[in-house]
Amino acid sequence: MRSPLLLAVAETTQQNVSIFDPASPQADSIRNLAILVLAITGGIFLVVEGIIFYTMFRFRQGAPPGAPPPTEEPKVPPSVAVEPAGSTAEPPQVYGSQPIEIAWTAAPALIVFILILVIGRTLWEVAPDHPEPTKGDNAVYITVIGRQWWWEYRYDYYNGRKYGFTTANELHIPISDTEDDIKAGKGVARPIYLTLQSADVCHSFWVPRLAGKTDLIPGRTNRMSFHTSEPGLYVGQCAEFCGTQHAKMLLRVVAESPESFESWLRNEAAPAPEDEKSPDGKSVFLREQSCASCHPVRGTENESPARKRGYAPDLTHLMSRKTLASGIIENDREGKNLRDWVKDPQTFKPGCLMAPFKQLPESELNSLMRYLLSLR
Ligand code: CUA
Repeated sequence: MRSPLLLAVAETTQQNVSIFDPASPQADSIRNLAILVLAITGGIFLVVEGIIFYTMFRFRQGAPPGAPPPTEEPKVPPSVAVEPAGSTAEPPQVYGSQPIEIAWTAAPALIVFILILVIGRTLWEVAPDHPEPTKGDNAVYITVIGRQWWWEYRYDYYNGRKYGFTTANELHIPISDTEDDIKAGKGVARPIYLTLQSADVCHSFWVPRLAGKTDLIPGRTNRMSFHTSEPGLYVGQCAEFCGTQHAKMLLRVVAESPESFESWLRNEAAPAPEDEKSPDGKSVFLREQSCASCHPVRGTENESPARKRGYAPDLTHLMSRKTLASGIIENDREGKNLRDWVKDPQTFKPGCLMAPFKQLPESELNSLMRYLLSLR
């Protein structure tokens, strides 16, 4: 059995969202850029604050004339001409001094120039154009659509093969071979190419350990790419305020071995499993003004209108997901949370587009749950 401590440690690793702990070459470039920019701006901060504090203490107004003299005479270096304490006279004026003006123009210009160069180099490294999918490229092409407040993922291509199925909220990707092997030509990268779009308002895709933040903007297509050699769960968060439940628009990326990714892919690409045990549940699901008006399930007759509306996540393989409602609650195997969610989603995510189904008779809810739990 796992000890509570181990579990806690595992939880913390899971929640790691530090840009200083990159797990992809792209995130690594961004980390390096962040450190350089922090060092430059930190240096500027220290110099400016240092001068401010020096000036504040060195040239502060002393006791007014006539006050008893301080016990100790301030030690003034002869190079700095200062007025006696308490004086209100103007300090020496340097207006129009050419050397000073050249210095304070050239120094910032140089700093900005250096920043432009390093940022340009990082952009070049992290945002290359997406090549056309080709057979044997080991690449995954996914279209990500931001919606209030969940993520739609359409798997377009893997390894040059066209897929086109849709899933939601949990992104699965294959890991690459190690960077050393890739460089030595002994291994391959499995790049992930994301095409980012929005169906409603601006969102932003941000999984800090994998890649930089990229916005999903209505009417525009953005792209990003990354690959990682480290298996595991990477979490993130929509990073652009997109409405009341913006904070509950979480991101989960499962990076796994190519074998387990491919078996996940095969399962997801298949139509919904037919389950003879819950025909009643399926009819509750499909009847008018019920689940299937909004939720597409591949292989059912209501699939296409629901998909066109795009209101709600594809549920074809709902139970293959670990969480519900864009990562905010566990999708437990018994369907306890799922049942509560179906009855009243507004208690979990006030303002979300799903209506409550409290009015369903208990027997219908039971059959519906049996059907939903069969969508593996
Ligand atoms: Cu989507 Cu914030």
